Amino acid sequence: MTWPGSPYDPLTARRDRDPMPRSGPTVGAVTHVLVTGGAGFIGTHVVTALHGAGHQVTVVDAGHPGAHRAPLPDTVEGAPLRRIDLRDQAAVAGVLAGVDVVVHQAAMVGLGVDLDDLPEYVGCNDLGTAVLLTEMARAGIHRLVLASSMVVYGEGAYTCPRHGPARPGPRTVADLAAGRFEPPCAVCGTPLEPGLVDEQAPLDPRSVYAATKVAQEHLTAAWSRQTGGTVVALRYHNVYGPGMPRDTPYSGVAAIFRSALEAGRAPRVFEDGGQRRDFVHVRDVAAANLAALNATGTRTGWRAYNIASGRPATIGQMAAELARAAGGPSPVVTGEFRLGDVRHVVAAPARARTELGFRATVDLADGIAEFASAPLRG
Ligand code: UD1
Repeated sequence: MTWPGSPYDPLTARRDRDPMPRSGPTVGAVTHVLVTGGAGFIGTHVVTALHGAGHQVTVVDAGHPGAHRAPLPDTVEGAPLRRIDLRDQAAVAGVLAGVDVVVHQAAMVGLGVDLDDLPEYVGCNDLGTAVLLTEMARAGIHRLVLASSMVVYGEGAYTCPRHGPARPGPRTVADLAAGRFEPPCAVCGTPLEPGLVDEQAPLDPRSVYAATKVAQEHLTAAWSRQTGGTVVALRYHNVYGPGMPRDTPYSGVAAIFRSALEAGRAPRVFEDGGQRRDFVHVRDVAAANLAALNATGTRTGWRAYNIASGRPATIGQMAAELARAAGGPSPVVTGEFRLGDVRHVVAAPARARTELGFRATVDLADGIAEFASAPLRG
């Protein structure tokens, strides 16, 4: 069922003519921005970009042990940091006075360790978001930028050469164990050909984390309809760059490979290394947040955007490039697999270009060369 203003089909007939119709404050005016998760990998770069654009920034972060092994600093890029868990309603209410826009980066990410993580994922990501939305409404704050993720799509877009567009289900253990990594056509079994996934693709979360991101999208869409507030949801693809946390069960592949190389170990590439992703540099992601912040001042409604470089790479290519740049051992392709993993997710970046004016500028080779020696966070 399509639901106008919802994450399922943001391009309703009305929005086709005029997505997120305009009204509200002037773009570029100095605003007071609250960044949640502002001491994290992406949040820190967002704070830097907001300062660079002249905004007043308040930073909150829970310092969750899954993301932070070291104690939180007192400031982030010069902005005072308040240690707040978003599930603490009184604390959230206490930081919203005078805030114009919330940029909500705080979340537990990754595949996690096991199902014991489930309540904490839902608590941090969904209960935390619910409390934030309630208190924003009470404080009369109508503008929100949400850090979402490409994980909401599950598998990317595929085509069968004989049967056309396809949406493959989760791959079976038997197929993966036999090295059949490409999802098959449900009709004829032929390996599907991957294509570009755009924002109208159905949501199909395949992990607990992905389910919490879908829930965040729906909660914010309901909030937008009920309050008349504006939400821009940024579906990040695979973000990498300076300040990534060291290897943890919650890390993305770039941090895992970089941590291995730092320890003198070869990156271990799962499956056959041919799985595709879009690696987007964290400074580009910060710039996308700035563009999204501006959009919340000129439009109303709920809208999602892929935030990607538009230049896909395979995991094998990325590992090889990073190992070369770091002067470390060459990657090993192991054939191992993880059940929660999808095969290919490659973004269509056009909507963010045309509507937000966002275009990634960091070339993968340059970004990887920098990342190979950039500091990781403890
Ligand atoms: C990742 C993140 C997700 C984030 C999204 C967008 C995880 C588990 N997923 O999704 O939180 O929202 O990017 O930024 O953190 N791989 C290896 N060797 C390893 C680890 C992984 O080859 O040591 C492979 C995996 O099998 C997979 C690919 O690398 O095929 C990407 O893995 P990963 O970064 O963990 O997950 P994504 O699904 O891309």
